[in-house]
Amino acid sequence: MSDSRNPERNLALELVRVTEVAAIAASRFMGRGDKEAADGAAVDAMRQQLSVVAMDGTVIIGEGEKDEAPMLFNGEKIGNGEPPVVDIAVDPIDGTTLTALGRANALAVIAASEGGSMFDPGPCVYMEKIAVGPDAAGSIDITRSPTENLHSIAEAKNKPVENLTAVILDRDRHGELIKEVRASGARIRLIPDGDVAGAISTAWAGAGADVLFGIGGTPEGVISAAALMCMGGEQQGLLWPRNEAERKEAIEAGFDLKKVLHISDMVNTDNCFFAATGITDGDLLEGVRFERGVAKTQSLVMRSASGTVRLIEGHHQLEKYSKL
Ligand code: FBP
Repeated sequence: MSDSRNPERNLALELVRVTEVAAIAASRFMGRGDKEAADGAAVDAMRQQLSVVAMDGTVIIGEGEKDEAPMLFNGEKIGNGEPPVVDIAVDPIDGTTLTALGRANALAVIAASEGGSMFDPGPCVYMEKIAVGPDAAGSIDITRSPTENLHSIAEAKNKPVENLTAVILDRDRHGELIKEVRASGARIRLIPDGDVAGAISTAWAGAGADVLFGIGGTPEGVISAAALMCMGGEQQGLLWPRNEAERKEAIEAGFDLKKVLHISDMVNTDNCFFAATGITDGDLLEGVRFERGVAKTQSLVMRSASGTVRLIEGHHQLEKYSKL
């Protein structure tokens, strides 16, 4: 990252303030059945807080194209304009439905990397993914079958396949995948949404997950690639057009649908930053709690250059908070 004035600066320690405010704003809508309102509140809060961060940022992964998203749209300039020049991926809520229904594992998330280093998925909405933590890094290959991958992950982790837990989004498109993983003997955690948390959980001791399989959002794939780079895990992806029209559009835009996308294709730098704050309680983080005038948050803050992963608890004085 080109911040010649301060090469050791950990931008993630500042970006966590952005995910904290987004999570607090979103958590007000927990269980209220209105995912658009939750997302709107998180986007507003995130954008306001981003404006004070000293960086010259461009949103590569945001809320969509400018005409659909009034804020945090792809290409939007954010930060106060000072160096460093950075690419930004935001997901103000990964798990809008989880938030709206008060279900587990909704996160507010941001990733940053050196300007020009982040993969822009263009029209490619979905990708097939496989992700593991550091103890199974080097053992996966997305071009092989789930069964073959489970066996090599089991070998790397020195435990039988039956003791592995695979995280898979609960979607009809995963029928065959689920059947195969069941046949292999591995256990499955079917998640209703939130494959960023799912991918990170494979690298987070105590989350009880060994591998993430399946097709999820490409933007979410870029964000989890940044997190797994910081954690020393591994992720591979293949772009997955839903139909012929999408396939054509992706090819015309110059995407190679056969290319295995490694972490370094998604975030092409050795210096990236990641922050996430729990909105609802989950496998990684507690959600926002309101107690005696305080909003309590739990966040993960990571930097790839050092590999440091911090778990940060924030106590935000609500009276002062509203004046920030
Ligand atoms: P949103 O919060 O934007 O709704 O995304 C949640 C999510 O579950 C992601 O974590 C995942 O990558 C994607 O949706 C999967 O897409 P789909 O719900 O269309 O299968």
